[in-house]
Amino acid sequence: MTNILCIGAGYVGGSTMPVIASHCPEHRFVIVDINESRIAAWQSDQLPIYEPGLEEIVHQTRGKNLFFSTEINRHIAEADIIFVSVNTPTKTFGQGAGRAADLQFWEKTARQILENSTSSKIVVEKSTLPVRTAEAMERILNSNGNGLYFDVLSNPEFLAEGTAIRDMQNPNRVLIGGRQTESGRKAVEKLVELYAHWVPRDRIITTNLWSSELSKLVANAFLAQRISSINSISALCEKTEANISEVANAIGRDERIGHRFLQASVGFGGSCFKKDILNLVYLCEHYGLPEVARYWEQVVLMNEFQERRFAANMVASMFNTVAGKRIALFGAAFKANTSDTRESPALAVCRALLEEKAQIVMTDPYALENACQDLEDLESRITYEPDPYAAAKNAHAIAILTEWPQYAELDYERIYSSMVKPAFIFDGRNLLDHRKLFEIGFNVYPIGKPARTRLVNHGTETD
Ligand code: UDX
Ligand code: ADP
Repeated sequence: MTNILCIGAGYVGGSTMPVIASHCPEHRFVIVDINESRIAAWQSDQLPIYEPGLEEIVHQTRGKNLFFSTEINRHIAEADIIFVSVNTPTKTFGQGAGRAADLQFWEKTARQILENSTSSKIVVEKSTLPVRTAEAMERILNSNGNGLYFDVLSNPEFLAEGTAIRDMQNPNRVLIGGRQTESGRKAVEKLVELYAHWVPRDRIITTNLWSSELSKLVANAFLAQRISSINSISALCEKTEANISEVANAIGRDERIGHRFLQASVGFGGSCFKKDILNLVYLCEHYGLPEVARYWEQVVLMNEFQERRFAANMVASMFNTVAGKRIALFGAAFKANTSDTRESPALAVCRALLEEKAQIVMTDPYALENACQDLEDLESRITYEPDPYAAAKNAHAIAILTEWPQYAELDYERIYSSMVKPAFIFDGRNLLDHRKLFEIGFNVYPIGKPARTRLVNHGTETD
């Protein structure tokens, strides 16, 4: 039996470890966190994160070979392998503010591991960290004078929220980076064996440390780049007669391009894309590559442009003023099937409309609580309403900001009849049947397609 510890019971630790534990019943897994209420939630029936399939796996393993605890020091002492998945937010102060990762949680954890270890261990970087962090960690961990040796590995996770459990059960690849020394190779092999319990060997890639760390940033940068690319073209489509869905379909049919991640939208969100790209930008600057830095930075700038453009288009279409107008925002989560609102474009649009003095009512099936926390500073100016019908009542406009499939199933005749006329729909996810909405009476503004509106001088009527 191997004692496996995970430090950090957040999204990453909390969704990966139970899956590993379920496939490795002979090993003992403990997940620890400094946040007591979070650990209490993991021990209860109300898990702190919502992820399809997670509850079943936690029920199956908890109390058998998976345990949750706040006794970090004791479990560090007992562990053979330690996964570190504490948060690495973007720095808000000092050198690299707004770009570089804030490594204070990581460094504290490294020191804590060192202080509480009486045997050599394998330490695995599980959160996204800038390239060369492992090296810094190695230095801290191996600065002890008591003969202990720590192998530091990089094992980035590529989970997408909403499909995290499915992705973990059947990953495209597992990436493990380690030192090319005898001890490093042995440590890598130990981790490979763990994953090989359910992942075919040919999908487990082993690389050197830096390649592994960098690949995580680059994978997210490439994915985000596709969205910014298609979103940039959506702006051009709105100025011409081109239709972004037709363009995406036409280019995506080329196997070299592929059809995935070409859905134009109000913008990308989530905890990873922006943070990882900014990290990449910072790294490029640090290594004297300003041209490369600017290239990747543009992916983030284009995303911010798309969010701003969407809100500005709403204002312009509604006779250049939304002051005092009730506007229903459908969706707060950064994408469907998650309660996560980190970097959600819905929040950016909300803030932009509030600046224009709109009256905002926000609805979402799972994410209202998080949105409410994120927008705490604007609390008195936003109404939170779980029922979309109630949210739309007496509204001048609806904006679809998250692609929740249930929003496509709503009774829009009923919604239309309860709204102020002329009624507007801004579909930031191209989720709805625009022709039908237009026939009901709405003025419809999709992304990257001509508006369908009856208003003179505010767009063209289309069939
Ligand atoms: C992403 C990566 O997919 C995952 O591999 C990595 O480990 C973490 O970051 P996630 O943030 O969960 O996962 O969401 P993802 O499904 O990638 O979507 C990110 C954002 O892009 C969402 O806001 C989504 O709505 C948006 N998106 C995605 C689009 O606007 N258009 C698309 O075509 C795809
Ligand atoms: P991620 O999405 O990367 O998992 P989260 O913020 O969801 O990020 O989770 C990170 C978790 O790490 C949080 O629950 C936080 O309390 C925990 N954490 C941060 N620092 C430490 C630490 N020094 N020891 C234990 N847990 C920590």
